[in-house]
Amino acid sequence: MMMNALHRQHILSSDQFELETLDALYSTADMLRPVALGRQYTRILEGAVLASLFFEASTRTRLSFDAAFMRLGGAVSHTTGVEFSSLMKGESIADTARVISGYADVMVIRHEQENVIHESAKASLVPVINGGNGAGEHPTQSLLDLYTIRSEFAKQDRMINGARIALVGDLKYGRTIHSLIKLLSLYQNLTFVCTSPSHLVCPQHYIDIAENAGHRIEVHHDLCTGITGCDVLYATRVQGERAGGDILNLEDGGDFCLTQAKLNAHCPAHCVVMHPLPRDSRLGAQDLSSDADQDPRLAPPV
Ligand code: NCD
Repeated sequence: MMMNALHRQHILSSDQFELETLDALYSTADMLRPVALGRQYTRILEGAVLASLFFEASTRTRLSFDAAFMRLGGAVSHTTGVEFSSLMKGESIADTARVISGYADVMVIRHEQENVIHESAKASLVPVINGGNGAGEHPTQSLLDLYTIRSEFAKQDRMINGARIALVGDLKYGRTIHSLIKLLSLYQNLTFVCTSPSHLVCPQHYIDIAENAGHRIEVHHDLCTGITGCDVLYATRVQGERAGGDILNLEDGGDFCLTQAKLNAHCPAHCVVMHPLPRDSRLGAQDLSSDADQDPRLAPPV
């Protein structure tokens, strides 16, 4: 059984997955869907403890790990924010991870520094899951995103192979984009349409991965051109907290506010519109506009 490929493994990057592993994982996810929705009950993780270490802001990822573990009968032990942890006292992440791995069966960590997840995994005696490492990766979000794409394409009887995937917004710091490119690269003959302000382009490393897997890459800095005719539109927030000085240039970056009018003008009726959330809903934000919230092309959250 291919799921064995994941048994007791750290989950640090989306490049750890193969299509067969994903098929097995998604079959399990389908089977557990009634449990996730609260319609069935299981205690399969009774007695197990998840250590949840979110040193960087999180709502969805942190709570979804909690909910998943608890719905399966396990218990969760937390720390949130560097300021409430012993890292404030000068402790190394290796010491933290090593000790916590004595309390828990698995650990999920989010930290603004990309390397912390790797140092933690090296020190831990139990599997470590990457809940987002700075501007690096977010492998579990990409697992969910691919699950959504697969489900939405299946409803329309369409194949992912050959699809035109518009990746929009902050492709430089958007870690969900980086992990999603890696997973989608397992398919064939895709066109990744990378559409961002010119100072927030996707790092070459991820472009190389897609190109080496035989996919086409288009780069655009104009939103309307980038989303034209796409089969998937994956929009992201500008990561202001990472961008530092870059964010100041945003006004020169063009119009990245994705409105209903732009979706209507440029995206086909079958297009699957996605966003990993959070989106920036402030006035003037360069993000998916809430005026498109009733658009049937928005992939449902559950
Ligand atoms: C993202 C993240 O934290 O990387 N959100 C998420 O986990 N679903 C995206 C973001 O912060 O913009």
